[in-house]
Amino acid sequence: MKNAEHHISHPIFKTISQAADTLQLECYVIGGYVRDKIMNRETNDIDIVVIGSGIKLAEKVASILKTQVHVFKNFGTPMLKHDNIELEFVGARKESYHHSSRKPIVENGTLDDDQKRRDFTINALAIGLDNQNYGVLLDPFNGLEDIKNKIIRTPLEPEITFSDDPLRMMRAIRFASQLKFTIEDRSFKGICSQANRIEIISYERITEEFNKILLSSTPSYGINLLDESGLLSIIFPELVALKGVETIEKYGHKDNFYHTLQVLDNVSNGSNDIWLRWAALLHDIGKPATKKFTQGFGWSFHQHEIVGSRMTPAIFSRFKLPLNEKLKYVRKLISLHLRPIGLVEDFVTDSGIRRLLFDAGDDIDDLMLLCEADVTSKNPEKIKKYFKNFTKVRAKLKEIEEKDKLRNWQPPITGEIIMQTFNIPPSREVGEIKQQICDAILDGEIDNNYEEAYQFMLTLDPTTKK
Ligand code: CTP
Repeated sequence: MKNAEHHISHPIFKTISQAADTLQLECYVIGGYVRDKIMNRETNDIDIVVIGSGIKLAEKVASILKTQVHVFKNFGTPMLKHDNIELEFVGARKESYHHSSRKPIVENGTLDDDQKRRDFTINALAIGLDNQNYGVLLDPFNGLEDIKNKIIRTPLEPEITFSDDPLRMMRAIRFASQLKFTIEDRSFKGICSQANRIEIISYERITEEFNKILLSSTPSYGINLLDESGLLSIIFPELVALKGVETIEKYGHKDNFYHTLQVLDNVSNGSNDIWLRWAALLHDIGKPATKKFTQGFGWSFHQHEIVGSRMTPAIFSRFKLPLNEKLKYVRKLISLHLRPIGLVEDFVTDSGIRRLLFDAGDDIDDLMLLCEADVTSKNPEKIKKYFKNFTKVRAKLKEIEEKDKLRNWQPPITGEIIMQTFNIPPSREVGEIKQQICDAILDGEIDNNYEEAYQFMLTLDPTTKK
C-alpha cells in the first residue's frame, strides 16, 4: 500500500477526517484533485467520495468550518466553499459517474464500484481520509503508472466506459491535448468505433471540452485526434471540409485543414485568448465554398474571408457560443485577415492604412498576430520576405496612428448634426452623407477635425439636389 499523505497536506483534509470519524464513515478524496496533485498541477476543486451519505458528511464538515452546505439543484450533490477551495461530496456509486447522466444515480456502492465507473485510470485514484485509511493511495487500475507513462486509458472495457457517457470520448482527447498524453490503443479504438454516439450529447457539454482543447498549448494535437477518431466530422463538418488537395494541370493548392491547424498553433504561441484562437480556427472556413479553378491561372478562393465571416454566426449558434461582441470580434478578424498583407507595396497610400486602423479599431494588434500566424510556408526565403513585409506594415500603422489617432475614432459629424443642419428627418440620406464625410477624412481629402468636416458637409446639401 502506498502512502500518499504528502498529497493531502492541506488542513481541510484533517477536518474532513475528523468529521468522518465522528460519523464513523469511510471516505476518500478522488478524481481530478489526486491526479493534479500527483502531477504538480494547481487545483482547488476537491471531490470526496463517501461510503454512505454524502450529505451527512458535508453537513458535519460545514458545521466544523462554520459554513453552509449548498446542494446543486440538478443533481443533488452537496458542496461547500472554504477559502478558495470547492468541496463536493458524493456517495460511492455503482453506476456511471457523471453529473449529466440520464440514468438514475445508484448510490450505496463500494469504493471499488465507484472507481470502476469513472472515466479514466488517471481520474480513478483515491486517497483515504478516515482514520482507518488516512493517506493510503488506492489505485486499482494503475493510474499512477499511467500518469508516469502519460497514458489515457479507460478503467473498464472502453465500450462500457464510453457508452456510460459518450462525452468521455471528447474528454479523453481533451485530457490528452491538455496534458500532452497519449490515448492507449484500445481506448482510442473504442472512441473510433463509438464516435457517432456523440450525437446524443448536448453542444453545451461538447463545447466545454472543445474549448479546453482549443486552450491547450498545442491545440492541433487534440483537433487531429478528434479528426482521426471520426468525432470531428460529426461535431464540426465545416472544418473537415477544409481537407484535401486538388491538382489540375500543374496547379495544386495547399491543404487548408492542416494549414488552419498550423495557424491555430502559431496564434496559440502568442496568445491565450480563446476568441483569437476561434478566429484562427475559422479564418479560412469560407474556402471550400469559394474554391474555383481557372485554366492557365490555377486555384482561387475569392472572397472567402467574407463568406467565412458570414458562416460564423451559424457555427457559434450550434456550439452555443455567445452571440454578442465575441462573435462580432471573431467575424471582424476573419473578414479583415487579408487586409494587412495587401498593404505592403510601396505605392500603398496612407488612406489604405487609415481605413484598416478604422475598421480594426482596438483589435488591430490581434489582427496582426493572426496575419503573421497565417504564414505557414516551408520556404525560408518566403517566410523572411513575409515577415519583412509585416514589419513594414506595422511601422506604417504606428506612424499613421500616431498622426491621426484612428483606432477608436468617431467621425466628428453625427447624424443629429446632419439632420439639424439640413432640416431633414432620419433617412437613408443621413447615413450616406455621414459615410461621405467619413470617406473624405479616411482618404485624406479633408483633415480630421470638426470645422473641415462641417464645411465639407455643407457641400453635400441634399435639399439643393433634384
Ligand atoms: N468523471 C467521470 N466521467 C465524466 C465526468 C467526470 O468519470 N463524464 C469523474 C472523473 O473521475 C473526474 C471527476 O469525475 O476526475 C471530476 O470531474 P470533472 O470535475 O469534470 O473533471 P476533473 O477530472 O476534475 O478535471 P477538470 O477540472 O480539468 O475538468
